Amino acid sequence: MAHRKQPPSFCYSRTDPSPRFDSLDIACNKKLCGVILLLLGVSNLQQIEPRKPKVPCYFIFGDSLVDPGNNNELSTSAKSNYPPYGIDFPHGSTGRFSNGRTAPDFFAQYLGFENIIPPFTTAKGEEILQGVNYASGSAGIRDETGTKLGINIGLNKQLENYNITISFIVSILKAKDSATKYLNQYLYSVGMGSNDYINNYFKPGYSTSTKFIPEQYATILIEQYSQQLTTLYSSGARKVALGGLGPMGCTPDAVASHETYGKLCVEEMNNAVRIFNDKLKQLVDELHEKFKDAKFIFLDNFGGLIKHISILGTNYKITGCCEVVKETGQCVPNTAPCRNSNLFIFFDSFHPSEAANPVTATSQITSLHCLFDTNGFGYS
Ligand SMILES: *[C@@H]1O[C@H](CO)[C@@H](O)[C@H](O)[C@H]1NC(C)=O
Repeated sequence: MAHRKQPPSFCYSRTDPSPRFDSLDIACNKKLCGVILLLLGVSNLQQIEPRKPKVPCYFIFGDSLVDPGNNNELSTSAKSNYPPYGIDFPHGSTGRFSNGRTAPDFFAQYLGFENIIPPFTTAKGEEILQGVNYASGSAGIRDETGTKLGINIGLNKQLENYNITISFIVSILKAKDSATKYLNQYLYSVGMGSNDYINNYFKPGYSTSTKFIPEQYATILIEQYSQQLTTLYSSGARKVALGGLGPMGCTPDAVASHETYGKLCVEEMNNAVRIFNDKLKQLVDELHEKFKDAKFIFLDNFGGLIKHISILGTNYKITGCCEVVKETGQCVPNTAPCRNSNLFIFFDSFHPSEAANPVTATSQITSLHCLFDTNGFGYS
């Protein structure tokens, strides 16, 4: 068995690592992180400008939380390539479901990429050598997920698209060897499952909730996810960060459409999320065990946000920043959003504002280090 350098001990702990900014080359003042970071925006992340990216290439798989515009030309209502989406983003309305940057944008910035990671649907030429983003709004682990909103690019299809990219990379770099040699240094992030609940299990018109209780449903999702991640491994991925689900019972849509029984969030939904996340953590451990030459980590998208929401207290009313179309929960096109989006966790009825993203992104960056050696990022 190949000798593996031991990563920091917190990497394998089941409880999420508390951010250890002192060990990172990130200019993060501890006091500025946490609630105040939420209020101040992300100035500390903006200061990071290394010259050479810490990883050569970054591939992103996921749903609307990280979609950079792959749905723009698809026949679906799950698209956001219009203002006020993107009003705080340097490139304007790109199709990101937020006013500004999403978590992978923060990662890419932290990793030192000069440009944003391009969407699969528009990525051209040598651009793909720095990575590609395959994410699609309303997409899920299951193919039928989100299809009542229109067409999306589910995880199975995203994996096929990834294979197309790899064959292009091979043809750009000519020798197959030189491409596959580097695959094991590439970073992969995969965040799937939210829509298998929001646009499937908890949505009328899908049959899953009549067939399964949450425990069973999480089990079949994780089984399918496990196969998909094994496919990703077969296609060369060796450093894979898996995003857990966020507090979907706390979205403005959930809170407005369900009885919360005096709580801030819909507990039934958050409990389903907890079940899924626990099983996902087990899966991460299993994959880690099974594929000794790869590293898989779990990124917490739940703990940080739920803490913020509980700090805000029960007098706080969860609302989004923009005015939304009732049927879709997405911003009404070309309306002015709230004045101070920094104070809002959610931008529309489902998606976090840019200000909420670094709350999770900073602790996730700590976790990302676990994919690399003790000495941090590096490649030859
Ligand atoms: C992509 O290619 C790999 C390696 O050739 C293969 O194992 C995998 O099944 C392919 N994935 C898809 C989704 O076609």
